[in-house]
Amino acid sequence: MSTAISPTAYNYKVVRQFAIMTVVWGILGMGLGVFIASQLVWPELNLGLEWTTFGRLRPLHTNLVIFAFGGCALFGTSYYVVQRTCQTRLISDALASFTFWGWQAVIVGAIITLPLGYTTTKEYAELEWPLAILLAIVWVVYGIVFFGTITKRKTKHIYVGNWFYGAFIVVTAMLHIVNHASLPVSFFKSYSAYAGATDAMIQWWYGHNAVGFFLTTGFLGMMYYFVPKQAERPIYSYRLSIVHFWALITLYIWAGPHHLHYTALPDWAQSLGMAMSIILLAPSWGGMINGMMTLSGAWHKLRTDPILRFLVVSLAFYGMSTFEGPMMAIKTVNALSHYTDWTIGHVHAGALGWVAMISIGALYHMIPRLYGQKQMHSIGLINVHFWLATIGTVLYIASMWVNGITQGLMWRAINDDGTLTYSFVEALQASHPGFIVRAIGGAFFASGMLFMAYNVFRTVRASNPVEAEAATKIAVVGAH
Ligand code: HEM
Ligand code: HEM
Repeated sequence: MSTAISPTAYNYKVVRQFAIMTVVWGILGMGLGVFIASQLVWPELNLGLEWTTFGRLRPLHTNLVIFAFGGCALFGTSYYVVQRTCQTRLISDALASFTFWGWQAVIVGAIITLPLGYTTTKEYAELEWPLAILLAIVWVVYGIVFFGTITKRKTKHIYVGNWFYGAFIVVTAMLHIVNHASLPVSFFKSYSAYAGATDAMIQWWYGHNAVGFFLTTGFLGMMYYFVPKQAERPIYSYRLSIVHFWALITLYIWAGPHHLHYTALPDWAQSLGMAMSIILLAPSWGGMINGMMTLSGAWHKLRTDPILRFLVVSLAFYGMSTFEGPMMAIKTVNALSHYTDWTIGHVHAGALGWVAMISIGALYHMIPRLYGQKQMHSIGLINVHFWLATIGTVLYIASMWVNGITQGLMWRAINDDGTLTYSFVEALQASHPGFIVRAIGGAFFASGMLFMAYNVFRTVRASNPVEAEAATKIAVVGAH
């Protein structure tokens, strides 16, 4: 095998843009997370202004961390992975650039409209119709760039990571468009096209699959590329990855009703959602095991490589949250967990432990390569970041488990005469220590992002234009 340098080059410009913005939005979104977590400890931090109340900033937090931080990580890594595994440049620089600027415009729109109180009120789909339409257009163009690049690939087969990214792109488009069907009554207000239980079902079909496809399938695409690359080992089982793919996308789509247990939704739909959620454990763990076992024979690398540690610990949290999720989907368990902080803990086990950690690991792998550098400016700082992130996540989820179970048990405690044992305020007071621990954990996690920003800044600054340009050359493996 010989390695020849092809005259053509990858489009790394757009990947660099998305990578840098992932860090920027991560700091803002998580910083805001720490702020709203602190509001729950010290309500004075609502500042007596309508724009800064918990109710307005909470959806801004979710939009910033999911769509801005997570979204930029997915765009950036998918453009990187699809080019490298197809050994070809993105199909169109102009369209790729449009997706970058269009996506940033949607985020800026969210930062302006959500604190002002413009919202559809549908969770994770709060943006009003003009922004929702812009988002849909950007997304369709994203699909054209991604799949267009696959069609002009120089490799024979389509690497499995691209299957996951592809499914995430297609299903997100479908969910977004269906759930946003609405009647605008003014520039800033629209009403859902659905009503009552149907509206709720469509919303949680969207909501759960936003978790399943945006926060999981896309990041699994990331996992299938960056874990083997960083471990310098082939994926443990390519066959398992194909089974994993088909099983995951077939099952996820049915699980939405577990968000609507004990509601007006027909009972059979709730039970179906519960059953499908329990079955979902199998493909989720299949994927996790496939990622973990890729380290067979390379476990010693964990001692010295904090990037690999980020990637592997993210898989451990993925395994944990996809065990916890099916348990919470069981109706009797959900009767305790629903509305409590247990759900919030579950969310952040997935969001911090899995989504953020795998993204951070992928960025640390990718950024030096994007700028023609051998490695990040400081491996020591990556290590500091790793411990801040891990300890932060553990503090967050452990405090929310304690709070969640305490709240669930206190709310359902009944005296002999049938009256409630505890008032709501008593349960809230009991939650206060947990709120403090969560805010501390969040501050740990968010401060790790500041170390990352410094490390990225120094790595980028160390690169000169010649090195950065040389990094984009397509190295074609195999003789021509
Ligand atoms: C420093 C890190 C973070 C902190 C301190 C934080 C804090 C918070 C707080 C206080 C809430 C509101 C909880 C409530 O209503 O009781 C929340 C909600 C949420 N956060 Fe975070 N967060 C962080 C990072 C993230 C990340 C990285 C993601 C996603 C990738 C994320 C996704 C969410 C979601 C989806 C919700 C809504 C949960 C629900 O409605 O059940 N968060 N976060
Ligand atoms: C097999 C996998 C999973 C299953 C079966 C599952 C199941 C559940 C269940 C039963 C709830 C509580 C619903 C409620 O009581 O309202 C929930 C909430 C949630 N889960 Fe999961 N989960 C899984 C994996 C994940 C992962 C990996 C993430 C994040 C990356 C995640 C993010 C969320 C979010 C954001 C919510 C809160 C939704 C809301 O009410 O706003 N889940 N999940």
